[in-house]
Amino acid sequence: MNVVGFNGSPHENGNTALAMKLVFGELEKAGIETELIHVGKEKLRGCMSCHACLKSQDGTCVFDDDPVNGWIQKMAEADGILLGSPVHFSGVGGTMKSFLDRAFYVAGVNGNLFRHKVGASVAAVRRSGGLPTVDAMNKFINYAEMIMPASNYWNVAHGLRGGEVEQDEEGVQIMEVLGKNMAWIMKLMEYGKEHIPAPEPVAKAWTHFIR
Ligand SMILES: Cc1cc2nc3c(=O)[nH]c(=O)nc-3n(C[C@H](O)[C@H](O)[C@H](O)COP(=O)(O)O)c2cc1C
Repeated sequence: MNVVGFNGSPHENGNTALAMKLVFGELEKAGIETELIHVGKEKLRGCMSCHACLKSQDGTCVFDDDPVNGWIQKMAEADGILLGSPVHFSGVGGTMKSFLDRAFYVAGVNGNLFRHKVGASVAAVRRSGGLPTVDAMNKFINYAEMIMPASNYWNVAHGLRGGEVEQDEEGVQIMEVLGKNMAWIMKLMEYGKEHIPAPEPVAKAWTHFIR
């Protein structure tokens, strides 16, 4: 089994990456392979709302001049997905948000590509804004009908300069507990799949509130 992680920070060795590696450490101890991809240092456009991905039905975004399509493919093939972002103005870093909007829209309109994968989110923050940032990433996980493991508190680690989250004893524990629970859920699902069939997917009902 494997987990692919997306670090929304521009820093490859910053606090977000460090928090994610704490989760990965526990996954690896449980025999699960991990890969960390650095999103925040890339040049990515946001979703243009062109709906080309809905028309093409080939599981890709029409913009092929950045790594997003390769990352969608990696997510579609992975057993688990870990999202990580630094807190920027009390929310998800801009580049990460652009990536998530595009990837999850493509996945949603192409047969729910991430359905029933195990997924979790973590955030690194100096002081305030950790919870809305984790909540915002969790929204993508929920929308995609993924299965979300929990920790013993909300998945936020505190630090300003890269490496400082190591000094956040509770934050370190939160990440480690999340990693253990994620590994356990992944193994339960792998075992359970053979014994308990998954619910059939349903065609999505769409309503809006104008008519
Ligand atoms: C543009 C920007 C906005 C930030 N906004 C916040 C904020 O709203 N609240 C906060 O506590 N820290 C804020 N920070 C600090 C970062 O969240 C913090 O340094 C975090 O550890 C960075 O993670 P990284 O090392 O993975 O990049 C901000 C940093 C930047 C660069």
